[in-house]
Amino acid sequence: MESFRQPSIQAPEEAPPEDRALRPQRMEEMIGQRAVHERLSIAIDASRKRGEPLGHILLDGPPGLGKTTFATCIPRELGTTIQIASGAALSAPKDLLPYLTNCSEGSVLFIDEIHRMPIAVEEFLYPAMEDFRIDITLGDGVAARTINMPLRPFTLVGATTRAGLISAPLRDRFVIREHLDYYSPAELAAIVHRSSGKLSMPMDDETANEIAHRSRGTPRLANNRLRWIRDFSTSRAEGLVDVGIARTALEMQGIDELGLDGFDRRYLETIQRVFAGGPVGIEAIAHTMSTASDTLEDDVEPFLLRCELVIRTPRGRRITPKGENHLGTSPKVGPGKLF
Ligand SMILES: Nc1ncnc2c1ncn2[C@@H]1O[C@H](COP(=O)(O)OP(=O)(O)O)[C@@H](O)[C@H]1O
Ligand SMILES: [Mg+2]
Repeated sequence: MESFRQPSIQAPEEAPPEDRALRPQRMEEMIGQRAVHERLSIAIDASRKRGEPLGHILLDGPPGLGKTTFATCIPRELGTTIQIASGAALSAPKDLLPYLTNCSEGSVLFIDEIHRMPIAVEEFLYPAMEDFRIDITLGDGVAARTINMPLRPFTLVGATTRAGLISAPLRDRFVIREHLDYYSPAELAAIVHRSSGKLSMPMDDETANEIAHRSRGTPRLANNRLRWIRDFSTSRAEGLVDVGIARTALEMQGIDELGLDGFDRRYLETIQRVFAGGPVGIEAIAHTMSTASDTLEDDVEPFLLRCELVIRTPRGRRITPKGENHLGTSPKVGPGKLF
């Protein structure tokens, strides 16, 4: 068998230092997602009490809502190790092999973007998930033999922004499936307070609320906006921060009252102006904006659909009256910036 790269047992800290500083390390530090949090806590507690491995978990939801955070907190709660793999990097079953054979009893294997694994890798994973066994075929043709190799029982945590792209057999092998939804402004304001404390820039409730309302229900965006406001404050406001300073800083980044940025508005404007409001297919919008349809589907559309600024119809996307109204009231993106 050809040699393969041994993955190291990673500490769950692949993110840059600043991100690491803000990412909750324990589940009790996490804010919001109460129902998901409680169900996972119960499953973790039961697994610890019975000394059995936790069932496989699938987390889905738009980017920046806490999938990686949950996935990296779970092994800490269990007192076990984690290995981190990405579905995009697992192009053949042999890429999975070192991860599976490295799993210790009860440890966690986290596969991010699990929807990007090719079907051959998925199929290789089925017996590993179900019976903690892998089937390796040696040779081919009439000489082919299959060897079964037992694995130590482990917990697979999969994360995806596209639950719809996961095949039913894979989805069914996850015992726990949780969908993460956007955070309420109150939850985001609590996250902003927590992060601003960690960044040594405490602020009043009004300012935290303002940032929360302009963060598209997403903790990652709230933290990014906060860092920008901190930079703005250091450079232009002698380190002071209040609601006016926060608003000025965010407007400078083109972030409007709904939290949409220039790219979100360009998407809406493309539908409205170029395609007369729609319906228009996602590929046509992506081509016109010179971007990838995946980016639009993962990063841009979920929140706009949620706010009912656009709708999806069988014939494509359409802007709603609310969407047109929002474009009418939000700051214009100049034509130079548009195309
Ligand atoms: N429930 C939460 N409480 C506090 N901060 C959170 C929470 N969820 C996410 N964050 C913050 O948002 C950032 C992005 O979350 P992450 O788990 O990487 O999202 P995803 O993997 O879903 O894209 C984290 O680094 C963390 O700082
Ligand atoms: Mg992630």
